[in-house]
Amino acid sequence: MRRAKISIIGAGNVGATAAHWAASKELGDIVLVDVPQVDGMPQGKALDLYEASPIEGYDSKIIGATNYEATKDSDVVIVTAGVARKPGMSRDDLININTGIVKSVAENVAKYSPNAVMIVVSNPLDAMVYVAWKASGFPTQRIVGQAGVLDTARYRSFLAEEVGCSVEDVQALLLGGHGDDMVPLKRYTFAGGIPITQLVKPDRLEQIIQRARDGGAEIVKLLKTGSAYYAPAAATVQMAESIIRDKKRILPCAAYCDKEFGIGGYFVGVPCVLGTKGVERVIEVELDEAEHKMFQASVDHVKELVKNIKI
Ligand code: NAI
Ligand code: 2OP
Repeated sequence: MRRAKISIIGAGNVGATAAHWAASKELGDIVLVDVPQVDGMPQGKALDLYEASPIEGYDSKIIGATNYEATKDSDVVIVTAGVARKPGMSRDDLININTGIVKSVAENVAKYSPNAVMIVVSNPLDAMVYVAWKASGFPTQRIVGQAGVLDTARYRSFLAEEVGCSVEDVQALLLGGHGDDMVPLKRYTFAGGIPITQLVKPDRLEQIIQRARDGGAEIVKLLKTGSAYYAPAAATVQMAESIIRDKKRILPCAAYCDKEFGIGGYFVGVPCVLGTKGVERVIEVELDEAEHKMFQASVDHVKELVKNIKI
């Protein structure tokens, strides 16, 4: 049986760490790609990771490249190419430079791997998925953005710490864009099946929600030279795994919504079923008036961002 082929475009912090998680899960063969100006870097990281395989016990072919020939016929392509935030920058500040990068990457992905599912990670996420969709010409089902899995993981990890329970027992749902106005939904948050509102006091829950919203900035402030990469890469690989292994996980992802939630043709964070076809279904959840209002504000922000893109 042919192993799945995963190409990761952008061999920086998120890309290389995603390669690491993907290899350790034995998801398939991995190609790590970066620009010709850093020739040797993706090859070196790939070789280093491959040399760890006898110790960790994964049978994956891992190569690095500075051209797209090596990515030919990938099943999943993860796009992490671009510039990351520095202290004082918002994700939106990256839009001009990353639009050009993601556009050229997506064109090459479409040329060399026309049947792939593309997972976009580059920021500002909700706008970059849109750019990748336009530039690749891929059907909307085969383009998806990673943000919600990360944002929910932050929220879940803080809640587990608060409740004093396993992170595995905290389930949560988060909607909207990958911005400060993302919408963690209290009503859809549980620990071991128990509504979170029975376990965490309202003011403490609000503080945790705010910390999750600010999760990206908290890491940027600590690192000073870039942004988070372990959790973002793990989140991305969880999506890739669901696609490659056709697990049909329900994960919060930036998916194309037209009639869904009445969004009208944008990529925003919503619960999705991920399988070999990509986004196999967007699940519309019921929202009360307050939740709907917050979601709408986040969607409006995404629309505003997309309007500012010059492709
Ligand atoms: P990084 O700077 O460590 O790596 C980016 C890599 O992209 C560099 O190696 C660079 O040479 C490469 N690159 C630039 N142009 C390229 C091109 N045309 N083709 C191929 N490679 C190219 O940055 P890091 O930390 O890996 O972040 C990558 C992106 O992911 C950033 O835009 C960041 O904001 C975003 N991000 C998004 C998250 C999310 O949840 N959606 C979470 C974390 C980061
Ligand atoms: C994050 O949330 C920078 O978007 C990235 O960590």
